[in-house]
Amino acid sequence: MRVVGLTSGHSNKGRNPAPSALIFDSGVGAISIAREIRQLLPGLTLHFGVDNGFFPYGEKAEQALRPRIVDCATRMMQRCGADVLVVGCNTASTLALPALRERLSQPVVGVVPAVKPAAAASRTGTIALIATEGTVNRHYTRDLIAEFANGANVINVPAPELVRLAEAKLRGEKLTQSQLAPVIDRIFAVPGGELVDTAVLACTHFPLLREELARFAPRPVEWLDSGAAIARRVQWWLEQLQLGLPESPACGELMCTATDDDGQIAAAFREFPLQNGAKLVTLANQDQE
Ligand code: DGL
Repeated sequence: MRVVGLTSGHSNKGRNPAPSALIFDSGVGAISIAREIRQLLPGLTLHFGVDNGFFPYGEKAEQALRPRIVDCATRMMQRCGADVLVVGCNTASTLALPALRERLSQPVVGVVPAVKPAAAASRTGTIALIATEGTVNRHYTRDLIAEFANGANVINVPAPELVRLAEAKLRGEKLTQSQLAPVIDRIFAVPGGELVDTAVLACTHFPLLREELARFAPRPVEWLDSGAAIARRVQWWLEQLQLGLPESPACGELMCTATDDDGQIAAAFREFPLQNGAKLVTLANQDQE
């Protein structure tokens, strides 16, 4: 087992003095969150932590995922010295936020499915919640619905294939109607589906497919995600930490848990200013794969 560039307690903060956030996900979902943060906070340096060695998260068992996420995000925080951790992944947030907050001294911002705004926006009282298998089945999500759906009928739509389709789109593939049709049917062609007017994109990969989902849906509906709310929460934390932002960000780090031999991950993140190439972070508990 090789640990690259990390020892416990090591921080690169001295090397990266600009205020920064680390956005963590299993893949390109971090990009949908990063776009919102960049729009609100253009001077914030963004680092990315991609657990491509354990992708996709949505189909993994909770017992394996929780310690993996905590180990991975902690090591990546140590490596880049970020001021805030953004868990840019619903599957991880619904599972590991308390453990991450216990482990890290920095603020941890998680993604919460936009159930409350969706229920408030719906005129028909029927909303769809589209997410990974893990997020759909999680107690966290059920409690969220019980507390915030305000009596709305919530149609749960597990859509693991959208995770891979979002990765494919970011690699430059053009998606077709037949690729999205099974998910569209799971939203609209089920009992009550004819009443859906608001859909919650409860996986950070899915806002990357908003255009395709809207194009292939049988009628216009509202597609809601929580990216903008996350950006506002990061802004709030920067204010609490009294960290002023420069006009433009420094180059961030792109950290992966598996090699990016073909450069596809680095290419997917090319819209952000990053130091050259994707860096490999090897984990202590990689054996559990
Ligand atoms: N982007 C992730 C989410 O928000 C997870 C996708 C996956 O790895 O299954 O749930």
